[in-house]
Amino acid sequence: MRLYRAKDYDDLSRKAANVILAQVIMKPDCVLGLATGSSPLGTYRQLIEYFKAGDLDFSKVKTANLDEYRGLPRDNDQSYYYFMHENLFKHVNINMADTNIPNGMEPDSEKECLRYEQVIADLGGIDLQLLGLGHNGHIGFNEPDDTFAKITHCVDLTPSTIEANKRFFASADDVPRQAYTMGIGTIMQARRILLIVSGKDKAQILCDVINGPITPRVPASVLQLHRDVTVIADEAALAKF
Ligand code: F6R
Repeated sequence: MRLYRAKDYDDLSRKAANVILAQVIMKPDCVLGLATGSSPLGTYRQLIEYFKAGDLDFSKVKTANLDEYRGLPRDNDQSYYYFMHENLFKHVNINMADTNIPNGMEPDSEKECLRYEQVIADLGGIDLQLLGLGHNGHIGFNEPDDTFAKITHCVDLTPSTIEANKRFFASADDVPRQAYTMGIGTIMQARRILLIVSGKDKAQILCDVINGPITPRVPASVLQLHRDVTVIADEAALAKF
């Protein structure tokens, strides 16, 4: 793992966007694995700036998002489809047909998970996967568990994740209870991984992820086994290093 120290969230966002910019320049038709949540917002803003300045061309880029709430339609403003559209896709020249997100409205979870794995396989795998880090060590919606989930699957969200995500909904009761997520195996197959971590509330878990034992109780700890992981964290998140 390569660990880069950023001064603050803006610095982190610029550094992360630079990694993605370099990836797209080196391979214009690359497959980007994308994440939602607060962590990548600044990165997406910076990518939009690069696009507007003429430095970044998304016309051949393909994307696959990590996860989606089960039961939320695309036009629900809390769906991850909506998030990606609002915070990145509608601002750049990406072909929407080349963007992929699990279909939260597919009721047959086995069918949807297998379909999504096939989508990623048909893309030829992910070149660069962007990840945020949950307070409990989750990546995607791979929550702490007894084993590492291999492929895309349907998960029951833990109380701590429902609590963390309720800020985006009218109340905790409105947070969906399930989500479709790439598995740990799916994520680990990405050729490169970029993990971004910001804020002092992530300091302990980041320490556990990088220095602790590899365990499904801290799902992101498995990244220690991946051969090409870049971690960019701000000073606050690195408080325990
Ligand atoms: C989002 C995702 C989640 C988040 C994580 C951190 O697609 O898969 O794993 O990356 O919950 O969320 P934030 O960035 O909001 O702290």
